[in-house]
Amino acid sequence: MLGRLEAKYRAFREPPRPPVTTPAPPIVEAPPPPKQINWELRSQAELVDHIVGHYHAGVRRDLPRLLAAARGASPRVPEGLTEALETIGHELEGHMAKEERVLFPALRTGQRGGAVDMPIRMMEREHEGHDDLLAQIRAATNDLTLPSDAPASWQALYEELRAFETALREHVYLEEHVLFARGLGGES
Ligand SMILES: [Fe+2]
Ligand SMILES: [Fe+2]
Repeated sequence: MLGRLEAKYRAFREPPRPPVTTPAPPIVEAPPPPKQINWELRSQAELVDHIVGHYHAGVRRDLPRLLAAARGASPRVPEGLTEALETIGHELEGHMAKEERVLFPALRTGQRGGAVDMPIRMMEREHEGHDDLLAQIRAATNDLTLPSDAPASWQALYEELRAFETALREHVYLEEHVLFARGLGGES
């Protein structure tokens, strides 16, 4: 009896055992995710500013350089490439000017429906022309595939052509699927 009481008393006086733990894993700082903007959540004005400031400015900055590189490449670049770049440059300059002077000012104030329907349809038709010209660039360059004996000067040119094509496709996608779609009344 006394032994049991002693055991209880000892147990009462002993400090509680700490819980079994394992060392915490070191904290590894994950790199921040790339900055992605969901343009569907932004206003028409923000979208217009982004398209003009990023994509239109990019075309005006990169196309003259691409054209100069294509014209100056030695040996000459594949037949048809310089002509396709000249045509797409001319076409895009006219197209972007129409967007900036006529359609975008209306869209950035939230206009939709009848007021903007016709210019949107016109811009969409012109986008189909961009597709045809990108296809000409692809046809002239064997789908942007460098020949095995390609000179070094062609490599950078082909990489820039690929980046130009990707940017133009993103640009048209944002216009048609977000900016114009809202103008046609599909979204607020
Ligand atoms: Fe545009
Ligand atoms: Fe456009």
